[in-house]
Amino acid sequence: MRRVLIATSNPGKLRDFAGAAKPHEIEIGGIPDFASLPTVVEDGLTFEENARKKAEEYSRYASGEIVVADDSGLEVDALHGDPGVHSARYAAPEVHGVQPHLANENTDDEANNARLLRELRNVPREKRSARFVCVLAAARDGKTLATFRGTAEGMILDASRGTNGFGYDPLFYFPQIQKTFAELSAEEKSHHSHRGAAFRQFLAWCDKGIQKGSKG
Ligand code: IMP
Repeated sequence: MRRVLIATSNPGKLRDFAGAAKPHEIEIGGIPDFASLPTVVEDGLTFEENARKKAEEYSRYASGEIVVADDSGLEVDALHGDPGVHSARYAAPEVHGVQPHLANENTDDEANNARLLRELRNVPREKRSARFVCVLAAARDGKTLATFRGTAEGMILDASRGTNGFGYDPLFYFPQIQKTFAELSAEEKSHHSHRGAAFRQFLAWCDKGIQKGSKG
């Protein structure tokens, strides 16, 4: 059984990844003492940059192991791709008085969703297209081996629907099954989500045999 370490402190993400990886005979683990490691500053301009930076830096603490890190967020076309890499701190101007790229802390989901609705208040339904994006980077000993990008296309509603999920899920309507992401079960979400899509690409790459030094 091969082993992959996920650079996250989120037990939900670890569980999801472990469930998807099991049929591929890949064991998923966390990075030892992850919480005590210095935080990697996510100051990249793209999801790729941030995912690579996290995977490379954390892989230095787990010699010889494949370490996977992800970065994800919401891109809204009418907002020229915002909140994008700043999705987790989109409400920073209201909450912390600074622009999202200068904020040191995330802002809560409720404040982020409120800002999103405010920014889109004059945007008609047909112009509210958006996508969730997730980029996974796999690294070993400080070098990225490959990256994988998954997306989910939808639109932003003008009011929340559903109570599952997190983040922007209640505002993200997924036309393919006519539900918001907050109305999906955990299984449905992993089937349709950007994170599930990126992780399935990663698993397919593992199944081909992890190439030393290869790049995706
Ligand atoms: P991270 O990559 O886990 O740091 O996610 C960044 C931010 O993007 C989160 O705080 C959420 O606001 C948003 N986001 C990423 N993935 C999802 C999702 O599946 N549903 C809702 N919001 C998400």
